[in-house]
Amino acid sequence: MEQKPYQIGLIGCGTVGTGVLELLHRRRDVFCGLLGRSIEVAKVVVRDIEKSRHAAYGFAEPDTFTDNVDEVTEDPEIELVVEVAGGVDLPRQWMMSSLSNGKDVVTANKAALAFHGDEIFQAANDNDRCVYYEASVAAAIPIIEILQNGLAANQVTHLSGILNGTCNYVLTRMEEAGLGYDEAVEEAQQKGFAEADPTLDVNGQDAAHKLALLARIITRSHVPLEQVFTEGIEQVTAEDISFSSSLGYRIKLLSIGSRNEDGSWELRVHPALVHKDEVLARVQREVNAVQVKGDAVGSMLVYGNGAGSLPTASSVVADIVRAAKGDKPIMNSANGQAPRIVSIGEVAVRNYIRVTVLDLPGVLGRVTSFLGMKGISIQSMQQPEAKHGQPVPVVFVTHKVKDSVVSSALAELRERTDLLNGPTTRIRIED
Ligand code: HSE
Repeated sequence: MEQKPYQIGLIGCGTVGTGVLELLHRRRDVFCGLLGRSIEVAKVVVRDIEKSRHAAYGFAEPDTFTDNVDEVTEDPEIELVVEVAGGVDLPRQWMMSSLSNGKDVVTANKAALAFHGDEIFQAANDNDRCVYYEASVAAAIPIIEILQNGLAANQVTHLSGILNGTCNYVLTRMEEAGLGYDEAVEEAQQKGFAEADPTLDVNGQDAAHKLALLARIITRSHVPLEQVFTEGIEQVTAEDISFSSSLGYRIKLLSIGSRNEDGSWELRVHPALVHKDEVLARVQREVNAVQVKGDAVGSMLVYGNGAGSLPTASSVVADIVRAAKGDKPIMNSANGQAPRIVSIGEVAVRNYIRVTVLDLPGVLGRVTSFLGMKGISIQSMQQPEAKHGQPVPVVFVTHKVKDSVVSSALAELRERTDLLNGPTTRIRIED
């Protein structure tokens, strides 16, 4: 006797939702063979039922579309709810009610999980259900599967990722085409990499949401989002890209989770100078990559599309198949445990510092003395030729120094209009 189909409800039918319908349709027979029953999309919830969806109609019957989310979250025949609508508060509600109604959940929603993950994972545990979220971090790259299962025998000691394709695209185009920041952001939006509100991409929040989810796995604890130090790429100028390049570096927005010997963690998202010889420096345009170090495996790199319809849908559909097979992911219920997270001020890094001074006798000496008095040791310095008395940029690379020392020294230096003649930029260097 043929088994009853595995009935799922899809919430959201935009770029990702349409891709999910397409892949389920394309791989229908394969999945049926694998599972011994078919996967059937019973309902598709959309915001505007009147809108025509030509891309999706070939893959789902028109009468499956509804604008009533309860038809999915409350239908006892539906075993799995797939949330790909985006947003934070409504998806949280939909996931919570689906779990309490005995359904598993697949989501691509990093923001909702970063803000409400503890509550959502707890609800899953309480109801003996599962939340699958592979597509929420680095779209096509199965980094969650790797960290949860593939590296189960390891203590992950370091993770360093390019987790926002928009920022990587912007920084790449500023370097390779000499575009200004605004021009490059506009190009990324036109290509469809950016979030609906690109502020979340460029201010580092999107990458921070993703890092918080990965950190939850590698620290086996709840990681409050506010404990992830977050700085975006808005202040990076074409001048910084060009100076960094001549010093042998590229600027990347990195998401870093690093375990110290005492078991505490550094969790930070910020632009960083990465030496051009390093593998992450060679990850260009919208591509995402994650470098992981484990105590047994050493270092590894995963690399792939971090956005887009089918790359994201690929991970969503993999989760649907896992759920249909009854594979239970490790939920990382935090048990009230939070890791000890070291504040950014305590982290020691090298720095790129760019100041603008007037090219006058003694000015450079006064700036370097100021930095020296604050305990900042200069490793190298660059200054192009300028006309006497004119503003000129000077770039310092510092030796490793505690972050708070640099922050407070630069706050003071910025007030010294007798020494400086323009804005000061500081970008951390990741060795
Ligand atoms: N807006 C994200 C990015 C893609 O630019 O990487 C979805 O997570």
